[in-house]
Amino acid sequence: MHTTNKGWKRLLVGALGLFLAAAAQARGYDEIRKAGKIVIASEGQYAPFNHFENNKLTGFEIELAELVAKKMGLAVEWKALGFDALLAGLNQGRWDLVIASHGVTQERARAVTFTEPHYCSGGIVVSKNPALRAAKDLAGKSVAVQTGSSYMQQLSKLPGLKEVKNFPQDTDARTAMLSGRLDAWVTDRFVAKAAAKSQPAAGLQVGELIFVERIAAAVGKGNTPLAQAYNQALREVFADGSYAALSQRYFGEDVRCK
Ligand code: ARG
Repeated sequence: MHTTNKGWKRLLVGALGLFLAAAAQARGYDEIRKAGKIVIASEGQYAPFNHFENNKLTGFEIELAELVAKKMGLAVEWKALGFDALLAGLNQGRWDLVIASHGVTQERARAVTFTEPHYCSGGIVVSKNPALRAAKDLAGKSVAVQTGSSYMQQLSKLPGLKEVKNFPQDTDARTAMLSGRLDAWVTDRFVAKAAAKSQPAAGLQVGELIFVERIAAAVGKGNTPLAQAYNQALREVFADGSYAALSQRYFGEDVRCK
């Protein structure tokens, strides 16, 4: 067959286009099952939910996702990335699922498909000043939060704050509060508890819950078969006692949504 130079070019461009189109799409559940492996992304800077210990990604959500994947009959390939990049990567097909303590919000639910929640929690006020405990105490104060977090969004609705300063990592928001540069830090209640416990000398005062949220994993928008398979496996982990044991080990209580 005779193909002109131009023809080859067209073919190449066409093939590249197809490749990009395929790469830019989330994998369906069938494809994942055939591969026997699910690619899950998390952050790794959010103890005790997802963090690094001796260079290994671990934490409540990491162990939980391993249990769920095992019920699905899948091996897990983990990826750790900046919190802000996680949800966008789903629809680009860069990973199949995200588990990184995302609260289910309307705004996020427009972009991705959430699974059923794996714990219930909320944002809490943490400060070195024992007088800062509740939402009303934050009037006139400067508050540190993680960039792109649900707390950042919620705080923007509170009246009278002096400043909401955001940090790419929640640990940096904590550091800014500890150094006295900002008055308070708003984070998850269990993250706050763990921080207070790991730094007993820092004088962290854990105040009140100011927002509540349901925390879930997410898959690409409309990837319902994958979400359903995950939900089914999560229910099995709830039912067979392994969730309860894991939650007890991390938190001394059962943190599932009641
Ligand atoms: N729960 C909060 C949210 O929905 C914070 C999550 C932060 N997660 C993390 N891996 N740093 O945005």
